[in-house]
Amino acid sequence: MPSLFTPYRLKDVTLRNRIAVSPMCQYSAEDGVINDWHHVHLAGLARGGAGLVIAEATAVAPEGRITPGCAGLWSDAQAEAWAPTVAAIKAAGAVPGIQIAHAGRKASANRPWEGDDHIAADDPRGWQTIAPSAVPFGANLPKVPRAMDLAEIERVKGDFVAAARRARAAGFEWLELHFAHGYLAQSFFSTWSNRREDAYGGDFDGRARFPLETLAAVRAVWPESLPLTARFGVTEFDGSDDLEEGIEMVRRFKAAGLDFIDVSIGFSTPSAKVPWGPAFMGPIAERVRRETGLPGTTSWFVSRPAEADALVTDEKVDLVSLGRPLLADPHWPYRAAIELGADKAAWTLPAPYAHWLERYRTA
Ligand SMILES: Cc1cc2nc3c(=O)[nH]c(=O)nc-3n(C[C@H](O)[C@H](O)[C@H](O)COP(=O)(O)O)c2cc1C
Repeated sequence: MPSLFTPYRLKDVTLRNRIAVSPMCQYSAEDGVINDWHHVHLAGLARGGAGLVIAEATAVAPEGRITPGCAGLWSDAQAEAWAPTVAAIKAAGAVPGIQIAHAGRKASANRPWEGDDHIAADDPRGWQTIAPSAVPFGANLPKVPRAMDLAEIERVKGDFVAAARRARAAGFEWLELHFAHGYLAQSFFSTWSNRREDAYGGDFDGRARFPLETLAAVRAVWPESLPLTARFGVTEFDGSDDLEEGIEMVRRFKAAGLDFIDVSIGFSTPSAKVPWGPAFMGPIAERVRRETGLPGTTSWFVSRPAEADALVTDEKVDLVSLGRPLLADPHWPYRAAIELGADKAAWTLPAPYAHWLERYRTA
């Protein structure tokens, strides 16, 4: 069996293969409540054969949404709307996961296809953003955030905890904290965005404090038997030698009870020079995994089945996360199984499809 199609067990959860749907915002919710579009989208990805389906960055508070269309988990009504979609993902044989998030200074933006920039200051659809310091991201996101005081820091940690509880109540079995991409937690860690002089800024320990305290608080309410994971930008690709610090942060996450890491990019400055290319995060993910001993995944420009399989075979990652290739073809896992010569490739799919495909093949 190709490595990509071996099952993967973490805590009490077993994935049918090593393919994860990377979280992807749909910008299509209303007041944070998901709808038929999210249901069809996520259930379709599960039916396509992935082992793990992680639902989009879901805001823990209204001001933590990237856009007015982002999903939320700050109310019980939002959690209730997720429940049937979670059940549909499970019914199709995948493990349901969700990414909980706060967008910090990158919040209050227009949908990507409507500008991908901050909503204008005089537009009532927008809102005041918050961040560790009153430093804007720049470029297309010029809004100056309000620096959070200590009470607001406590409040947002509590929002993450409440969202984690609601995620569990909705039936999710895999929880990912969005600590990447220049959003709130990453912006506490990054010197590009954190200029604080109190306990939540300054040296490594100060900048690490918000993500670590948030993780610890969530760990206390998320079941020990289920995976608690995080997506974190281990490097900014800003020309500095920041990877060592990024890896140390992952070690601290592990010590604080994290089970798994999704190795990603900081995106804290528009001046970053990311070396885009096929599977370019593979060697970095391997280093993080080797030096921290934490199992992990990465995404970004992995599109060919052989490439994905090699990432697992070469022990660079435990799971391969895919985004756009699965939007283009939700049945990518099935096609990959055929291409890689997996025994019983059709078994990548749920039984009502697999049975007939197998029969047809052998007839
Ligand atoms: C439509 C879309 C929405 C995305 N939304 C999120 C998100 O909610 N959270 C996140 O961490 N990454 C998000 N990303 C990044 C993806 O999870 C993934 O890392 C990225 O697309 C690279 O993988 P790929 O080359 O397989 O597409 C998004 C990407 C796309 C294309």
